[in-house]
This record gives sequence, C-alpha cells and structure tokens, in this order.
Amino acid sequence: MPEELNFWQKIEEISRRTFSIYNYQEIRAPIIEEAGLFNRSLGEFTEIVQKQMFLIQNKEDLYALRPEGTAGVVRAYIENSLDKKMGFSKFYYIGPMFRLERPQKGRLRQFHHIGSEVIGSCEPCVDVELISLADNLLKSFSISDYKILVNSLGCVNDKLELIKMLQEALKDKLEMLCEDCNVRFKNNILRILDCKNESCQKVIHTLNLHEKYLCSECRAHFASVKHGLNALKIDYEVSQYLVRGLDYYTRTVFEIKHDKLGAQDAIGAGGRYDNLVKQLGGPDVGAMGFAFGIERLLLLHRLESGALGPGLVYLISLGDEAKKFGMQLLDKLRKAGIGSDTDYENKTLKGAMRQANDRGARFVVIIGDNELKKNIVILKDMASGEQKEIKQEELISGLSIG
Ligand code: HAM
Repeated sequence: MPEELNFWQKIEEISRRTFSIYNYQEIRAPIIEEAGLFNRSLGEFTEIVQKQMFLIQNKEDLYALRPEGTAGVVRAYIENSLDKKMGFSKFYYIGPMFRLERPQKGRLRQFHHIGSEVIGSCEPCVDVELISLADNLLKSFSISDYKILVNSLGCVNDKLELIKMLQEALKDKLEMLCEDCNVRFKNNILRILDCKNESCQKVIHTLNLHEKYLCSECRAHFASVKHGLNALKIDYEVSQYLVRGLDYYTRTVFEIKHDKLGAQDAIGAGGRYDNLVKQLGGPDVGAMGFAFGIERLLLLHRLESGALGPGLVYLISLGDEAKKFGMQLLDKLRKAGIGSDTDYENKTLKGAMRQANDRGARFVVIIGDNELKKNIVILKDMASGEQKEIKQEELISGLSIG
C-alpha cells in the first residue's frame, strides 16, 4: 500500500547502498524455475517442497514460482560459468518469493526477500562478514531489539551424527511429541528442534547437544566464526537448537528474531551451504548467504509516520483567481524540486487544513484574494504552528533554505 512504500523504498535504497559498500553485486535470477531445482537443493522432504510450492505444469515440464532465492542464484552461477569468469563472488538480490502457506500476520503467499549469496569460499571470515552485514543492515533500517541466534550444524557427516543422536534420544519419547514431530521423526528429524509446540519444546530442552556432533574441523571453524563476531562486537547468542528448514545448510546457520513479530518472529535467516554448488553440477566450493523478509521489516516499522514525507508543502488557494494562480505556483514549486500538493476537491479552509495535516505536510501555503492583491502568501510551519506572511517571490528560496 502507498503508505508502506515510503519505508519499503528506503529499505531498498539503504540495502543497495550498503551492499555496494561491502562490494556485493546485484544479481537478478528468474522468478520461474524448473521445479526439480528446488527438490534437489532445498530437499525432497522439506516443508517447502512437500507443501508450499506454486507449481505450473505444461505439457512436458513442471515449473515452480521460486520459494526462495538461493537455489536460483547458484543455478545461474553455474550455468553462466561464473566460477571460471569471476571465481569468488558476492551477490545480492531484492525480489518476490512465493510459498503456498496458510496466510497470517507476517506470513504471506507472495513476500519479498532482500538476500545475499557469497559463493566460492569456506573461510570463516565470510560467515563473520555476512552476519555483521545483516546486523548493519538492520541498524541502518533503524530496527533495534532483535536477537541474532547462531549455531553450527557441521559438515554432512556431522549432520548425520546429529541425526543419529536425535534418533537415539527421541525414540522413547515419541508419545510426548506432537503429530507433526512424529512424522518429522521419520523423514526430517532435525526440524523437531524448532517445533513451537510446548510439549515438544519441553522434550527438546532436555537434549544436551552442545556441539557434541561436530568433528574437530567444524568445531574449529565455528570457533573462528564466534571469535570473529566477538572481535566485531556483534551481539549474538549461540542456540544449540537452531537448525533451519532447508536441507542445503551445513556448518554455520543463523536466524534473526524480534519479539514484537509474534508467532512469525524471524526477520531474516541464513547459513552456509558448502555442498550445494557441487550438488547442482558446479565446482566443489563453499558458499553462504542470508535473506530478510521485507514485509516483516515493514511490520516492525509500521509505527513510523510521515505518509507523504517530511518535506511536503501543501498549497491551499481560496477563490477562483487564487486557484488559477495557485496552479502556477504549484508548478513552480515542483519545477524547483520541492515536493508539493494541493486540494483538488474545492474544500473549505478548515477541510483543506485537515487534509494537509492527514497527508503529513511540513508546510502549508495559503493564498486568498487578499494575499493575491498584496503579492504575498501565508506560510504555516506545521511543526511549530508558526504562521507568517512572505512575499510570493521569496517563497521558493525560503522553503529551500527551511
Ligand atoms: P528462509 O528462512 O526460508 O530462508 O526465509 C528468510 C526470511 O524470509 C524469513 O526469516 C522471513 O523473514 C521471510 N519469510 C519466509 N517465508 C515468509 C512468508 N511466507 N511470508 C513473509 N515472510 C517470509 C531462505 O529463504 C534462505 N534462502 C535464506 C538464505 C540465503 N540462506 C542462504 N542464503
């Protein structure tokens, strides 16, 4: 909606500027992909692939509206031989994603990501840069009071080890888990860890995972990531239960949460996917990324006002002659680059003032027949309430300075 777009555009503008400062390049991958791409990368048994894909079937092929951005970026990277042309690469993207979920506050069927993908390195400095970039973006959006949760899932073998540990620990507690978790126990056991059901949470909190499943290399990698985050004074918490819902993740995963969002409390999330590039037919290189949900950022920002922007000038002209002159004055203001608007409904002074106020005008300019004769206008500062007469020819310079 128009009133939300001020902040939306601000978010995009700040993101582009910030990504450019970090030397990330924009990439625009297609919205429609072959459906199999998502089965292969997100995982056959993930919720997204099982239940949430918008599918388009034509005679021979099955396509999907992308549910997320990572798989498409990796496909484009491989298909365009960017590994050979660019090698190590840092990308960002802004665009719509689609998931056939039950809509609720903060959960939509079409939503938008601001995301980034760094392809070509397993070094922990990439993890540190991405988490600190996500943190800096939120700070520049003036969002505060969020929590950054970090964990390491380890390499593929460690993940198998974690799965084994969970099977062992949970096999006698199945009746205490919800129906969904009983299904997850068979085909997607890691997701039990982020089930929100209270009785499942109780069982989960008895598990003592604490990096026990990590091999020495992955443990050292995670230690370097934590060290790097500490060195940059990033406020984060290690959460041993953070797993993420997509199969491609390995090693570092993170999620950023905000209490004010209610049930859908993740503003953004990401992690490493060191095997995905190879799995999709590319070189054996590490990679990592994250994505923010723009609509959730908007929900957090809704309290901010200023519908038409702080600089708006609202012109009220009363009487036929003043109205003719008013159109010329409005034209001059706009040509001078001053955001301005007027009443198009022949309102009374009181009605027009109310509208100026509703539109968030910073200044109101009033002209009636009297002012026309004297070559002046009345200028009202809406913030201070102060009102003064100024010469017509001094209006633009006065507003520009103000
Ligand atoms: P994700 O956690 O599925 O990760 O989505 C990232 C963010 O998108 C979420 O934290 C949330 O803010 C927002 N989001 C997800 N689903 C919805 C929805 N239905 N309605 C509104 N907002 C939503 C990914 O998609 C990964 N591709 C992130 C990533 C990039 N990992 C590595 N690189």
